[in-house]
Amino acid sequence: MYMLTGAPTVDKKIFELGIPVLGICYGMQLMTNLLGGVVERAGKREYGTTKVYIDNNSKLFKGFLEENDCLMSHTDKVTILPQDFKNIGYTDNCQNAAMENEAKKLYGIQFHPEVNHTYRGTEIIRNFVYQVCGCKGSWKMSSFAENTIKELKEKIGDGKALCALSGGVDSSVAATLLSKAIGKNLTCIFVDHGLLRKNEADEVEAVFSNSEVNFIRVDARRRFLDKLAGVTEPEQKRKIIGEEFIRVFEEEAKKIGTVDYLVQGTIYPDVIESGTGIGNKIKSHHNVGGLPDYVDFKEIVEPLRDLFKDEVRQVGLELGLPEYLVFRQPFPGPGLAIRIIGDITEEKITILQEADFIWRSEIAKAGLDRNINQYFAVLTNMRSVGVMGDERTYDYCLALRAVETSDFMTANFSKIPYEVLEKVSSKIVNEVKHINRVVYDITCKPPATIEWE
Ligand code: XMP
Repeated sequence: MYMLTGAPTVDKKIFELGIPVLGICYGMQLMTNLLGGVVERAGKREYGTTKVYIDNNSKLFKGFLEENDCLMSHTDKVTILPQDFKNIGYTDNCQNAAMENEAKKLYGIQFHPEVNHTYRGTEIIRNFVYQVCGCKGSWKMSSFAENTIKELKEKIGDGKALCALSGGVDSSVAATLLSKAIGKNLTCIFVDHGLLRKNEADEVEAVFSNSEVNFIRVDARRRFLDKLAGVTEPEQKRKIIGEEFIRVFEEEAKKIGTVDYLVQGTIYPDVIESGTGIGNKIKSHHNVGGLPDYVDFKEIVEPLRDLFKDEVRQVGLELGLPEYLVFRQPFPGPGLAIRIIGDITEEKITILQEADFIWRSEIAKAGLDRNINQYFAVLTNMRSVGVMGDERTYDYCLALRAVETSDFMTANFSKIPYEVLEKVSSKIVNEVKHINRVVYDITCKPPATIEWE
């Protein structure tokens, strides 16, 4: 078969390991190529929802009808199956849309089960996991907190742990698990960089200063403001905040002395995102998670490494954390710094905190907060003319953003009812000094990003 130079490949010995493999689209073609079948350029590209005629005697399609709508997106196709493979699916344009070697548990499908446009696509993946791989699905969330606390107790014993607490759901849940396991041997450092949302720092303190752990709140607001004075470039803002955060953390950690473990709120999607090694850098995310070089510790503990966000929230509730913390929407490490376009001043931070607070409160009052995945206000550096009473004003324009997304890689702007927008706009302009105009961002991602900077 032809193969483009630089096309990704795998070691063929993988197929001899006796482990189940499901090759999807290019994965099926690669498997075919490596196992001696033939892949050729198709006459025409097949794209879109297509009827696939399947062999529902195959374990992969157990419980399916003989026809299933599937999303196809390919130019090359398998023309000759590798030896010992059987055809288990075809379309009008593609004779080999699915194949199996049941004995070796090797499967290939040309279409995409992972997208919504494939009917019951996740059930195909489910069949692979349960019927082919033989997984039992016996893991239960309900035992997670209890087991993890027990494991942490055994692992850490009388050792000491340190946690950088951001107030977000992940680090809060990780810290709470540790606190239940080792109590006062855990120290949480919470750096207040002054770029948090209204009341946020106090809310975090209220939860953790009452718990079993040593909680240290560092008021570093002045330091961050001084470093950021006059800085307008978004990536530079991120860099300054990331570095300063580490400096503050280091200084505080040094006061504590040697610790054995550093606790991080890493969750499964972070593991995936940092593991690919491909993809262009659009924004340097997660900079606040950077580690100081010379804080002495033996090991990193990441108790949430295997969980998705909704599972982390479930653990948070089980551990008795308040709902406002558990359901907190994602908030970027550099905080309001990247929601104030242009230079950052104390006055602008206050304006934005007040306006953002109104926006968030009204969304919650309208009962929309659980359906919108991220919503916040942005203080633009654009000023425009307005009229208030008899007076002409020349003040800032505030932008409201609200998006619906499950992965934060793509997002749609939320179709918020006009009545809600109207109420918020009038409340903000009336109550927040120096804002005389409010706009709603109706751009999706892509082409826009969720944050404005
Ligand atoms: P964008 O703006 O890239 O955002 O569409 C996607 C998600 O990432 C968050 N975000 C950040 N998180 N540090 C963070 O910890 C950052 O510098 C940063 N920039 C964006 C953003 O809030 C959204 O949830």
